[in-house]
Amino acid sequence: MSKAPGSSAGEPYLAVEIAPGVHWVGALDPHLRTFDIILKTANGTSYNAYVVRGETGVAVIDTVKESFADDFFRRLESVARYDEITTIVLNHLEPDHSGALPELLKRAPQARVYLSSRAQMMLKALLKPSGEKPPEYIPVTTDDTVDLGGRTLRFLHTPYLHWPDTQCTYLEEDAILFTGDVFGCHFCDGRLFNDRVGDFRFSFEYYYAHIMRPFREYVLDAMALIEPLALQLIAPAHGPILRHQPRDYVLRYRELASPRLFNEARSEKTLVVFYISAYGNTRRMAEALAAGAERIDGVRVSLYDLEGGESGIFTDLIEEADGIAIGSPTINGDAVRPIWDLLSSLTTVNIKGKLGAAFGSYGWSGEAVRLIEDRLRGLKLRLPVDGLRVKLVPAADELEHCRSLGESLARHLTGQVEHREIDMASLA
Ligand code: FEO
Repeated sequence: MSKAPGSSAGEPYLAVEIAPGVHWVGALDPHLRTFDIILKTANGTSYNAYVVRGETGVAVIDTVKESFADDFFRRLESVARYDEITTIVLNHLEPDHSGALPELLKRAPQARVYLSSRAQMMLKALLKPSGEKPPEYIPVTTDDTVDLGGRTLRFLHTPYLHWPDTQCTYLEEDAILFTGDVFGCHFCDGRLFNDRVGDFRFSFEYYYAHIMRPFREYVLDAMALIEPLALQLIAPAHGPILRHQPRDYVLRYRELASPRLFNEARSEKTLVVFYISAYGNTRRMAEALAAGAERIDGVRVSLYDLEGGESGIFTDLIEEADGIAIGSPTINGDAVRPIWDLLSSLTTVNIKGKLGAAFGSYGWSGEAVRLIEDRLRGLKLRLPVDGLRVKLVPAADELEHCRSLGESLARHLTGQVEHREIDMASLA
């Protein structure tokens, strides 16, 4: 027997009806404080899974983390028998949603599994340790459907949100969208629904920034599929179920994924020069580089001293920039920590294909420039010009080299110079 719509999820582990014949059968994890090693979860998370009952079939949409499988199966058993399950939908195969899948497949071996084409290899890898034969599975894409008898599941191909395999599933007759991680957040509240839980705006934005932001082009593609749908309710795989004004969350994703800065029209290219300087030498190099870049029409140059700010505040700027130049002195054979903090913050930003360059003053060894270049290449930036090192105080001719570097970088940004492939042999 299920609880009435709007009931809290708690003991005695009953399913919660979110619409007639549609139940939440997930699990609450209030004590989790770190997710995937790097994400903070100030009040835990939930692993949301759902059951949809039709006249001729029962579908289970996603499962939960393996250590919460007992909660999932108890809630599932409160609304369906295993031999009734005709359909298992896998919107996303990350272990927090597929952990209970091997056991579910044992309990409901007759069920047909629907997943995206990119999830097929992941499913095989997931089942490998059990030695089980993979179940019958059907790869699906946008507008493929499954008939449950009076109820239709329609799939939306929404890859890279945030894994290659991700998809959404739409229950047509009820206008319910099951979205996997999309529109989710790490926020644990047994009241389940967005109009009943505490204020989760921070968690929603934090989750987007750390999980979805690097894939914003894919977010925009997904919103184009979702926006035309009638939406009564959005059922994500983490956090509150969005039944109050669900479209607001779609609008917010659209907003978050859209360019925000002044150069939206892309009429000019932007180059951001970051530096940090112990004695003013790397600063003089940065200023000369910026001045050189400004010689080129169509490039807007910004100069930032990392000593004056936390690296996290620059991510918007970097996401919108076309080029990034980074200057650091070498101290103890390395670039200095604010530079590494900045570079490490870029893992949440899609910077692939932007142009990069490095420069810096040094005392006797000067490794920082090469190390920064290696990191920029690792982040898939293109480095069209060799970095520039200057021993201690830059002389007039060395400052002119800095100006030339800036000018050359700006020419590459504006397409006045053909991009060239880096010859790795020349870097040895
Ligand atoms: Fe919630 Fe990408 O797993």
